[in-house]
Amino acid sequence: MNSNAQKAPKEMFVGAPPEWSLNQPKSLLQQGWDFLGAPLRMVLLPDHLNEKMHFTSLRAERLANVLPQLEGRCLDIGAGDNMLLKLYQKKNSDDKAHPAHQSVGLDVEDWGSNCTIVENCKKLPFDDNSFDTVCFIACINHIPERVEALQETMRILKPGGKVIITMIGKVIGEIGHAIWWYSEDKHRDVHEEELMGMNSSHIIKLLKDTGFNDIDEQGFVYNLNRLYIAKKDAA
Ligand SMILES: C[S@@+](CC[C@H](N)C(=O)[O-])C[C@H]1O[C@@H](n2cnc3c(N)ncnc32)[C@H](O)[C@@H]1O
Repeated sequence: MNSNAQKAPKEMFVGAPPEWSLNQPKSLLQQGWDFLGAPLRMVLLPDHLNEKMHFTSLRAERLANVLPQLEGRCLDIGAGDNMLLKLYQKKNSDDKAHPAHQSVGLDVEDWGSNCTIVENCKKLPFDDNSFDTVCFIACINHIPERVEALQETMRILKPGGKVIITMIGKVIGEIGHAIWWYSEDKHRDVHEEELMGMNSSHIIKLLKDTGFNDIDEQGFVYNLNRLYIAKKDAA
């Protein structure tokens, strides 16, 4: 863990996205407004400022696409502000016995969000077959030990459980990270083996090499971002 990021700096991980920004499908009006604001929301402004202007932020796009896919007890790796699980728990707040409340956020940095902090993801501190869903949202590129992290994912997933990954492509990611003055990697040490984006072929190969055979892939944010859902074989 690095010592220079003990809690969330001001420009990033600010507040929760407003509820309207998580509504899917978006209204035609929202789609039009988002299209007009594409340079602002995709490049120039941090999420919370985009939301103030009623643009759908990139974090809202990720959350809106991933939240409906969560099932059972979840582990969110590279959880940042832990917003995904906070929203998952809020969605299931009427049922205190729901496994959402036994879900865990994990990170190598302590962003002040009640995550389990680990040195890396080579070994995950969880039992075999103990999660229904494991997520890598906008982070597998930042995890140099991604091969071991996926092997650990396979170990801790229950039979029939799923791994969810979102990732931008290599070229757009490299351009974006050069411009995104507000992104979290500007607030911590960056490992030399981190990548700034990963193409579909790279993600699919990693999943297949780990033994995930049932893989679904779809695009979002004009196909610049991709959602991958892969299932562990049922026993
Ligand atoms: C772009 S942020 C994504 C945060 C969150 N998942 C989201 O969608 O807003 C990338 C996250 O990966 C975390 N990270 C970096 N290296 C990591 C590693 N080796 N293992 C796990 N998480 C890591 C960072 O601390 C950061 O919280």
